[in-house]
Amino acid sequence: MNSLLLPTSADRAAVFAAAQGGPPFYDERLKLWVVLDHEQVSELLLDGRLVAPDLDAALQTVERHYGVALPNLRWAAGELPLVLNGERHARVRGDIAKLLSRERKSSGAWRQPVSQIVRSAFAAAGTIEAVTDLLLPIVNVVFDALTQVDAAFAPLTLTRVFDHYASYRHLMAAETGIATLRERLTAAGIPDEAIGTHVATIVLGRDSLLASLSEALIDLAVASRGRRLDQPAAKAPRLFGGVAVGERLVEEAFVFRSAPFAAGQRVRLYFQGYGYREAETERLAMFGAGKHSCLGRALALEVWALLATEIRGVPLTVQSVAFEYVRNSMFTMPKLISLTLG
Ligand code: HEM
Repeated sequence: MNSLLLPTSADRAAVFAAAQGGPPFYDERLKLWVVLDHEQVSELLLDGRLVAPDLDAALQTVERHYGVALPNLRWAAGELPLVLNGERHARVRGDIAKLLSRERKSSGAWRQPVSQIVRSAFAAAGTIEAVTDLLLPIVNVVFDALTQVDAAFAPLTLTRVFDHYASYRHLMAAETGIATLRERLTAAGIPDEAIGTHVATIVLGRDSLLASLSEALIDLAVASRGRRLDQPAAKAPRLFGGVAVGERLVEEAFVFRSAPFAAGQRVRLYFQGYGYREAETERLAMFGAGKHSCLGRALALEVWALLATEIRGVPLTVQSVAFEYVRNSMFTMPKLISLTLG
């Protein structure tokens, strides 16, 4: 099994089923521990002995290796809660929570435009490319409402900052992307001290939402093949997590289910296993657990509920579904989702 390609591999459901109950294993090629069992992932997230990785140190190594400066990514490393620990993490997390609750109090300026996007995409029979015609516009509208700026970056541009295996080209695109985003936020009048909060919300939320809505749409469309979307379905539409993995660092050595985690080793936790559970409570753990659990969970569930309700009102039959994933080790991000409706 290739741990990096697993998130989008065709046999992933079988791999996660087979890994149930087995101990974590050490991937010699990647030089890290891999945890596939979803219960063990939750246990480790709540246990607190694994800590967030030091992104700034990793970026300094990249800078030395390539002889480049990455000032914007290094700045972001101090703003993204997922790679922070302790007090700094608590402060940054609290600021993002406040930004998200302000949006919720303003009762979702994205709702009406999202409904409109779905209705126009499904207005007539024919083929739609759902990433560009439907899902990206929805994610853009949601994040415009949340952050007051145009943050319409190409999928997987900014989140490469978390990807240990990102190429030089991808890292440089992320560096430019963060610089552009900071400029746009400044130009929109966002005060200096709030720019980090906005950037973190966009970086952590956009790709997560897009990848998850995509997975959920693919599932809904495949289950509806040959049937009218507005006819009762065997199963209620469900959200699927598109955030496939999270990474942590072992701070002090400990043994977990016979796996000897040594200080300084990396651990890759697969969230994807939750998607193959039936119980809704288990599936919700796709949003993580513990100190770094997802702050966008309520918003993501609301966006999906609205999208699913709108789709369930479309009086057209799904004739075919085709999709293809981008090669990425962290998100299950589709390159395209082609839906033909008649
Ligand atoms: C269905 C969509 C989403 C899924 C499946 C998802 C999943 C996750 C997961 C699994 C984590 C924890 C990662 C880890 O522990 O390594 C996380 C963290 C986070 N998510 Fe989400 N997410 C989604 C949407 C969003 C949205 C829309 C936002 C913001 C608007 C958001 C903001 C965050 C933030 C800020 C964190 C980091 C919290 C911290 O480190 O303290 N997410 N998300």
